[in-house]
Amino acid sequence: MTKTIILLSGDGIGPEIIAEAKKALLAVAKKFKHSFNFDMRKIGGESIDAFGIPLTDDTIAVCKKADAVLLGAVGGPKWDNIDPEIRPERGLLKIRKELGLFANIRPTKLFPSLKSACPLKNDIVDSGIDFIVVRELTGGIYFGQRETKKLSDGQIWAQDTLGYSKNEIERIGHVAFEFAKTRSKKLCSIDKANVLDSSKLWRKVMEDIAKDYPSVTLSHMYVDNAAMQIIKNPAQFDVIVTENMFGDILSDEASALVGSLGLMPSSSIGTGKFGLYEPISGSAPDIAGKEIANPIGAILSAAMMLRHSFGLEEEAVAIENAVESALSKGFKTADIVSGKESPISTSEMGEKIVQEL
Ligand code: IPM
Ligand code: MN
Repeated sequence: MTKTIILLSGDGIGPEIIAEAKKALLAVAKKFKHSFNFDMRKIGGESIDAFGIPLTDDTIAVCKKADAVLLGAVGGPKWDNIDPEIRPERGLLKIRKELGLFANIRPTKLFPSLKSACPLKNDIVDSGIDFIVVRELTGGIYFGQRETKKLSDGQIWAQDTLGYSKNEIERIGHVAFEFAKTRSKKLCSIDKANVLDSSKLWRKVMEDIAKDYPSVTLSHMYVDNAAMQIIKNPAQFDVIVTENMFGDILSDEASALVGSLGLMPSSSIGTGKFGLYEPISGSAPDIAGKEIANPIGAILSAAMMLRHSFGLEEEAVAIENAVESALSKGFKTADIVSGKESPISTSEMGEKIVQEL
C-alpha cells in the first residue's frame, strides 16, 4: 500500500517526537511492505517565523490532497505576545476546521507496566482504566463569536459564545455511538444541561439519535460531576462524548490517570477516512530541545492513523504491542520512570519501540 503522509512537526517538542513517530512508521512500512511518502510542512510558530501566519493556504491544500496528517504541537513563549489573530494555536484550530475534522478521539488506557505511574489508589487502578473521549472539535466556544471592547464606564469587557446547531451535535453523536457499538456499548454524554441552553439541546439530540442505536446504553452526566467521577471511579466509563471545551479539559484530566500527558495519542476525523493525528501533550516548551520528551503519544497517534485512515489494523496493533513490550522491559522516558528506574532519551525510546517491531 502506498500512502502520502504530511508531517507538521510544529513547535517545542513537536519535531523531536514526530521524528520518532516517523521512525516507527518507516519500520512498519518495511516489515509489512508498504510505502509511505512523507512531506514536511509548517504549522504554528514555525510557520509564523517563516511566512508571518500560523497556517498557509498552500499547507492546507497540500494536507487536503494527502492521505493523512501527523502533527506534533504548536505554540510557545516566543509567540505569546503576538497579535491574537495569528497566534500559533489559530493555525491548529484553522486546520481542524478547514479539513472538516469535527471529531477528536482521545483514548485513555493505562498500560499494565505503568500502573505505578497512575496517581490513584491501587483498588481504583485495579478496576481498570480504558475509555475514550470523543470530543467535538470544530464548534462550540472555540469557534463562537468573540469580542473584547471598552464599555462606556471605561471598563474593558470580553465575551466568547458557546453555540451548537442540531446538525453539529448529531454528527458527533453518530461518531460516538459508532465507537460505543464496537466497544462495551455504553456511551456517557457529558454536558451542563442544568445551566446551559447549548447543553439542553445537546442532551435532547443525543437522546433522539440514541433511538438509532438500540444496542447502546446512553447515560448523561454533568461536566462538574464527570470531572470528579473520572478520578473517583474511572472504570465506569467506556465511551464519553462531549462538546469542544469540556472535552479539552476532561481529556487533559484523563491523561493524568495513565501516568503522563506524553503517552496520549489522538485522532481528529471527519466523515471519510482522512484524519489528522496528534499527541495531546502540547509543545512543552520547558523541555523542548532536551531530548527528554516522551514520544509514545506521537507513536500511538501514528498507530491510530494506520488503523483509521489506512485500514491497517494488524500494523496498528503491532505498534501498540511494541510500545507495551518496550515499556514492560523497563524502557521509560523521564516523565514515567518511578523509583530507581533511570530514564532514556526521546530517540532511545523511539529506537526501543522500533526494535520491538
Ligand atoms: C488540544 C490543545 C488545543 C485545544 C490548543 C493548543 C488550541 O489544547 O489539542 O487539546 O485547545 O484544542
Ligand atoms: Mn488541550
